[in-house]
Amino acid sequence: MSDVLEFAGVSVVRGGKTLLDGVDWQVREGERWVIMGPNGAGKTTLLQIAGGRMHPTRGMAGILEEVLGAVDVFELRPRIGLASAALASQIPEHETVLNVVLTAAYGMTGRWREKYEKLDERRAFRLLHDWGMSTYINRRFSSLSEGERKRVQIARALMTDPELLLLDEPAAGLDLAGREDLVQRLANLAADEEAPAIVLVTHHLEEVPPGFTHALLMRDGAVVAAGEIEAVFTEDHLSNAFDLPLSVQRDASGRYTATARR
Ligand SMILES: Nc1ncnc2c1ncn2[C@@H]1O[C@H](COP(=O)(O)OP(=O)(O)OP(=O)(O)O)[C@@H](O)[C@H]1O
Ligand SMILES: [Mg+2]
Repeated sequence: MSDVLEFAGVSVVRGGKTLLDGVDWQVREGERWVIMGPNGAGKTTLLQIAGGRMHPTRGMAGILEEVLGAVDVFELRPRIGLASAALASQIPEHETVLNVVLTAAYGMTGRWREKYEKLDERRAFRLLHDWGMSTYINRRFSSLSEGERKRVQIARALMTDPELLLLDEPAAGLDLAGREDLVQRLANLAADEEAPAIVLVTHHLEEVPPGFTHALLMRDGAVVAAGEIEAVFTEDHLSNAFDLPLSVQRDASGRYTATARR
């Protein structure tokens, strides 16, 4: 079994609709994956399963060497950092930035002792510093700009020192400077050998950080292509996934661009 994710024939059916259709997928330690595909392709559903938030209707989902369905998900979830719009919408209006990051630790430890509190606080401060948010710790999360919120959410996802980091569209809603800042930060994270395995969902090739190693392309709940990034992000595979003839470029620094072919 692959050490991070091992999906075999994973299908999800809801209300008679097939959301995922026989997905096979392996993620190993140290790999950095991008998941791409059109709206409704099943990307978020796939991430929900990888995060132990949803069970497959059919097939086997191995996560961190445990099998979903045969493991206590409340022990599994703290080993996985997740940042998504759905999770952000659950954050109470009045919550401070520090608390948004800190509370991720309480889910894991399930205890409140002075010793852990101080340790956790130090880690939260450091993560907020790393993600350029140290001057915002006492601000309400709800008062932040979209770009600032995204950085806080990633700091929160890293709080439990996870073995797997799942990011669902972290660059959505960012302006050009905010996107470039985030792409650079994610490239730095990807280059960090201590960082967990990463799975990043995005709609745009321009948001793929250099250093990401693998890609999975989806369409209608099924895998169009998966494997090493250069072999997956070809004009043929991308045109097929998005049902549109595309011209794809990759520059010397490893950044991709895609435009409709004319
Ligand atoms: N409970 C449900 N019942 C029926 N259909 C559902 C349910 N949940 C999700 N879907 C459908 O499953 C499909 C896949 O949804 P999902 O959110 O995984 O797509 P996505 O690739 O993340 O899309 P986007 O790029 O828009 O975020 C969508 O068509 C969605 O409407
Ligand atoms: Mg989605």
